[in-house]
Amino acid sequence: MTAAANSPQTFSVTTPLYYVNGVPHVGSAYTTMAVDAVSRYHRLQGHPTLMITGTDEHGQKIERTAEARELSPQAHCDEIVGSFRDLWKQLNIQHDRFSRTTAPRHQAIVEAFYQRVEEQGDIYLGQQKGFYCVGCEEFKEERDLLENQHCPLHPNQKAEWRDEENYFFRLSKYQTQLEALYAENPDFIQPASRRNEVLSFVSQGLQDFSISRVNLDWGFPVPANPKHTLYVWFDALLGYVTALVDPEDEPTLDNALKQWWPISLHVIGKDILRFHAVYWPAMLMSAGLPMPGRVFGHGFLTKDGRKMGKSQGNTLDPVALVEEFGADAVRYYFLKEIEFGRDGDFARTRFINALNADLANDLGNLVNRTLNMAKRYCGQVVPPAGEFGDDHALKQLGVDLGDRVAKSYTNLAFSEACTSALALAQASNRFLDQQAPWTKYKEGDQKAVEEILYAVLESVRLVAYALSPIVPTISTAIYQQLGFEIDFNATEGIGQTAPYSLHGQWGALPVGQALLKPKPVFPKIEVPEPEGTGGKD
Ligand code: MSP
Repeated sequence: MTAAANSPQTFSVTTPLYYVNGVPHVGSAYTTMAVDAVSRYHRLQGHPTLMITGTDEHGQKIERTAEARELSPQAHCDEIVGSFRDLWKQLNIQHDRFSRTTAPRHQAIVEAFYQRVEEQGDIYLGQQKGFYCVGCEEFKEERDLLENQHCPLHPNQKAEWRDEENYFFRLSKYQTQLEALYAENPDFIQPASRRNEVLSFVSQGLQDFSISRVNLDWGFPVPANPKHTLYVWFDALLGYVTALVDPEDEPTLDNALKQWWPISLHVIGKDILRFHAVYWPAMLMSAGLPMPGRVFGHGFLTKDGRKMGKSQGNTLDPVALVEEFGADAVRYYFLKEIEFGRDGDFARTRFINALNADLANDLGNLVNRTLNMAKRYCGQVVPPAGEFGDDHALKQLGVDLGDRVAKSYTNLAFSEACTSALALAQASNRFLDQQAPWTKYKEGDQKAVEEILYAVLESVRLVAYALSPIVPTISTAIYQQLGFEIDFNATEGIGQTAPYSLHGQWGALPVGQALLKPKPVFPKIEVPEPEGTGGKD
């Protein structure tokens, strides 16, 4: 059975389903902000879009965390899920679906999928021996562990020796098919460095992996043998499928696959690449389902150049960051200052400097000074555009800004999208300085003043539009000061397109539109003087 084909423009995208062993950290926020930005971009383009996020709630790690808190696993999960939902709200995330792996409807999907794989003869009972890292929820090769069998990703935890009967998935059977998938779809795994990592892993030969655990209660029983609990990854990856079922529909595979499948893009961190780029496609091949479009593995964040972790005492709490600086500031920093796909660092000074330079100075000041001039010289309405030649400095930059940022967003090159948009803001500031409309006004050259101000107001609008997937609240403030009744945070409903998908083009600002009084869109962040220099406390 195959799924109904998506229309070429349909865009469905996932974040990983986050473990609920603790409140969300900045790593989960990072992936989610990126996925939100790319979803918002597709909605702007008028593409039917479905953004999926959610939580991965089963397995040993969660079971033990709940035990340590003396809570039932479900009570523990419900509480932590609440903090994920709260953070997504604070960060202005517009997810269409929130997939919880403890949802009863998810069990129905997992069982149906398991059955398909079993019918292919791809599940068998065997003996699993090896070191298991509960932090990773993964068996490890001994050579990949540190001394004393500690896992490099979880250095505080010892990998545990297991020698038990498990069900296995016949991954090895899919070696050739996977290699063909990667060869025929060079963009299936991005960026290129991750693709190479996967190609090299697969070329070493794939081994079957175990998909059940004994001595674990927190999870779904293996349908054929309830003494076994399904391995958390064999359950969690299917959360992407469950998310596709309309809330009013029965949870069947047919209902899940009828509209949004195959998923266009899975965005993940590099640590879970193998699960998404090797195991998952093989599982889908076994079940006879079409392949996802792309898997993008982003880099890891550090703080002040060091790995983040509670034990190292350098965590970065996304909630505190949003409370202090607001959602747009946080979204902008992580998406602009770090090239998506590479590792990146958070340092408070760099954070504040970037926001002040780009959002407060280049963009914020531009909006302010332009609107003030339009008020003073043009009766607070958008002035006539005048005669724009194609060699006009701002038009030259602005005319294909929409296309350039479209390409950047499609490639998840968020930093590049910001740089292109900002270049137009910087050029507008220079243009104002060179053209000095205040002098032309004094000289009585009203036509020149109007032409200059139209060009800059239109550039401001384009910049706001291009940045709206990343800083929707700032973009809304700019748009509203330009006289539009558009809210980039409004939700149109799943699959609905925004009514302003043509705004990516030069010239969308209507002449004569009443402007509002300028209000700072991003006030400069004042840094307190270091102690002992006579500054405030
Ligand atoms: N539950 C699995 C995913 C299952 S998907 C079907 C999982 N969850 S996780 O909560 O541990 O990780 C979620 C995401 O956060 C991963 O993409 C991971 O790469 C990312 N990050 C965790 N720490 C990170 C940083 N320090 N920096 C950037 N991202 C990081 O894995």
